[in-house]
Amino acid sequence: MIELTRKLTETWGPSGYEHRVRKLIQDEVKDLADEITVDPLGNLICRVGGKRSDGGTKIMIAAHMDEIGVMTTFVEPKSGFLRFANVGGLIHTTLIANRVLFEDGTIGVISVQDLWGGARTNVPNLDDFYIDVSDGNGTGKVQPGSPGVFYQRMEQRGTRLIGKAMDDRIGCIVAIETMRRLKKKTKNEVYFVFTVQEEVGLRGARPAAYNVDPDVAIALDVTGTGDEIHGRKMAVKLGDGAAIKLNDPGLVVPPAIRDWMIERAEKDKIPYQRELLVAGTTDASGIQMARAGVPSGCISIPCRYVHTTSETVDTRDVEACIALLTGLVKNPVKL
Ligand code: CO
Ligand code: ZN
Repeated sequence: MIELTRKLTETWGPSGYEHRVRKLIQDEVKDLADEITVDPLGNLICRVGGKRSDGGTKIMIAAHMDEIGVMTTFVEPKSGFLRFANVGGLIHTTLIANRVLFEDGTIGVISVQDLWGGARTNVPNLDDFYIDVSDGNGTGKVQPGSPGVFYQRMEQRGTRLIGKAMDDRIGCIVAIETMRRLKKKTKNEVYFVFTVQEEVGLRGARPAAYNVDPDVAIALDVTGTGDEIHGRKMAVKLGDGAAIKLNDPGLVVPPAIRDWMIERAEKDKIPYQRELLVAGTTDASGIQMARAGVPSGCISIPCRYVHTTSETVDTRDVEACIALLTGLVKNPVKL
């Protein structure tokens, strides 16, 4: 699992350009599903198990393949400097001196005008940043419209995993490992959907939910933690287990879904915590509004420093999320 996490987090896949991540996941799950399709937007949809017509429940699981990054908007003449817009929610204070990888392999360095002046202590506007792709010989090959992602390796420290794009490749890991444990055996009709374009507004999950037409849905995504020094007051701690979402700005989890998850966790003795997120949302927010409405919940992987190049998760939490999801999709669902 750790090597696959390394591979997935280090793979290049900004919103709308998930093809490399999808290829990797496709190779990983090809023997774990009864049917695998890719829809017109690029969502990877893997069906496992029985049929709703035979009494099973149709469950949609969603984990997003895309990651935040940058979009080149303008190439400064003869300089090798690029201007860029955000892809997803960038944290401006974390940008300077980070490296960016473009699809053609070019690695750029993010900096800002007046680095040793005002920018030392004040957060500049995105307009004042640039990416240096100069190669000493010309101006480089990166064109307007070229997307990039942060360039960072995954590291391990005890049970912690640290890297870029844990949001949401670690959710993809939870889905893949659950498929591995199911061995295609469940009476439920389960769709593991690896979605596109979550970071730019849940644009993949909504049409995928329309297509799958599930009875119930679970998103898998990271959530913030409240255990840092002087951190935000939040009842989620790294290492304390699977976070069962109750509420975020885009989703009120129906009490029946909450109870379904909590009862499962208690029955299977899986460490869990209650999650109330005050900023951000997940694919579940989009899925719940598909068709006539889909009761939706979310199993969250606690993660420090979300949307930075050092997103930090704990393997014990990942394990708890896999165990919880496996129990939920394997057993009969009574809501
Ligand atoms: Co995110
Ligand atoms: Zn996410």
